[in-house]
Amino acid sequence: MASTTLICDTQPWKDLKAHVEDIKKTHLRDLMNDKERCEQMMVEFDGMFLDYSRQCATLDTMDKLYKLAEAASLKQQINRMYSGEHINSTENRSVLHVALRAPRDTVINSDGKNVVPDVWNVLDKIKDFTEKVRSGSWVGATGKTLKDVIAIGIGGSFLGPLFVHTALQTDPEAIEFAKGRQLRLLAVDVDSFLIIKAVKGEGIRKDSRYEVPVILAARLQFSFLANVDPIDVARNIAGLNPETTLVVVVSKTFTTAETMLNARTLREWISSALGPSAVAKHMVAVSTNLMLVEKFGIDPNNAFAFWDWVGGRYSVCSAVGVLPLSLQYGFSIVEKFLKGASSIDDHFRSAPFEKNIPVLLGLLSIWNVSFLGYPARVSMESNGKGVSIDGVPLPYEAGEIDFGEPGTNGQHSFYQLIHQGRVIPCDFIGIVKSQQPVYLKGEVVSNHDELMSNFFAQPDALAYGKTAEQLLKENVAQHLIPHKTFSGNRPSLSFLISSLNAYNIGQLLASYEHRVAVEGFVWGINSFDQWGVELGKSLATQVRKQLNASRTKSEPIEGFKFSTTKLLTRYLQ
Ligand code: F6P
Repeated sequence: MASTTLICDTQPWKDLKAHVEDIKKTHLRDLMNDKERCEQMMVEFDGMFLDYSRQCATLDTMDKLYKLAEAASLKQQINRMYSGEHINSTENRSVLHVALRAPRDTVINSDGKNVVPDVWNVLDKIKDFTEKVRSGSWVGATGKTLKDVIAIGIGGSFLGPLFVHTALQTDPEAIEFAKGRQLRLLAVDVDSFLIIKAVKGEGIRKDSRYEVPVILAARLQFSFLANVDPIDVARNIAGLNPETTLVVVVSKTFTTAETMLNARTLREWISSALGPSAVAKHMVAVSTNLMLVEKFGIDPNNAFAFWDWVGGRYSVCSAVGVLPLSLQYGFSIVEKFLKGASSIDDHFRSAPFEKNIPVLLGLLSIWNVSFLGYPARVSMESNGKGVSIDGVPLPYEAGEIDFGEPGTNGQHSFYQLIHQGRVIPCDFIGIVKSQQPVYLKGEVVSNHDELMSNFFAQPDALAYGKTAEQLLKENVAQHLIPHKTFSGNRPSLSFLISSLNAYNIGQLLASYEHRVAVEGFVWGINSFDQWGVELGKSLATQVRKQLNASRTKSEPIEGFKFSTTKLLTRYLQ
């Protein structure tokens, strides 16, 4: 495409715009009657089953979307990413998170160098280090075994690892590997909301109220420190002993204000209790900036590298996620997670568009956002842009507002909005086999069945709705009919996954990562930079300087807007 050509100037885009009128004349109720259409809108790959038949789309829509993908040179753009071209052009970088989970013998070049051996050197180093900590052969400054891990990081250096940890902490296999560790908190079973008391050192216990062993859904000794609010530091170190605590500082740049302040705070906590030399035994780091890691006082041997071709938001498969998660669950569990992601990477690169899960997810998002005008989605990101990759202002919106909720919590809170208020396309993700099934005595339907009943019901409720005619037949009072009528025709897609273990979690993560890329490639934007975040950061730096100058030299507040000056004055008083 010539540099000033936008995707909206192409014929396939115009065809899709015109096609919206056809789709508006249809209703999902009728579309769902077409069995052939439904059949063709189901895709299966390696234990993942995607049903997108409840999208406001026909097979003709899909053909038009594939043509749009062709006009955007989607296939070529995917290949450019995998071949290490500097597709993040504003930062002049490759985008190679796929190399983080590539098998050892793969060749993936960035700037003429195969990066896979570097990836595996770090993975091997993590395996070795985490095995030493977990086995107790790595001890703290006073000779005690390390029992508690605090991972400091923010944004991509926190949210990805948190997502994987949240999913793994109830996985029986992962628990088995974490077994024997100290359990610190009460935990809630995600399916059945059973409050299970944490029992020290126990992985599985028999509960008299149930017929089956209840596997403890335990938060182990592992916690994340992201927020710079001092309350969060207090929460993280409550009850912990620096002698038995390991702190992992995770920061790509090793300059992020919040992370570095939290790191200095915990360095002080350790050195004031154990002396400054203890830092080498109690603090390790993950970063691309190994010089700053050393300057901070962390032993370079305990630094785990990654590279500028890994975007912060795509870094969970680097040492950012692999180190803390391996400390908690062991390297072999995390390796499974990487293999799951790698399986989707291969699929994304090679499967034809009609069978390619990330491509379908991305194209359907574009259809909903740019054509049907549904800007939000219930269900990760850097697609919020106002200009094309060549700097041309976009005459269409890119990016969408994502939100979501586990289990049926959403049903009891914001689903009212999606059923009768705004049209918000939804992704429902269901699991065939629960991580922790519960069968109550005398009840045939398991707790997981109860949860899954909603997984199957909600998409149909959204698609079909309920007509006034149906309500009349049910003898609903006339005055209530407008209130109880559901328009339906609200799009969703359903992901049914065999089970939720490290491998499948990797698959899910990669599917959604690649969805972002597909959207960005077609919209013609850079999905891998995030200049928008920088403005807030630089203004905070200005405030920090002012606070410092006012407190230390009583300097007056200068250079801020009127109301900000008033607020700052009040804060300083
Ligand atoms: O502000 C956004 C961001 O730069 C993310 O990309 C990154 O994940 C986060 O901040 C934290 O940055 P770092 O890992 O360099 O501390």
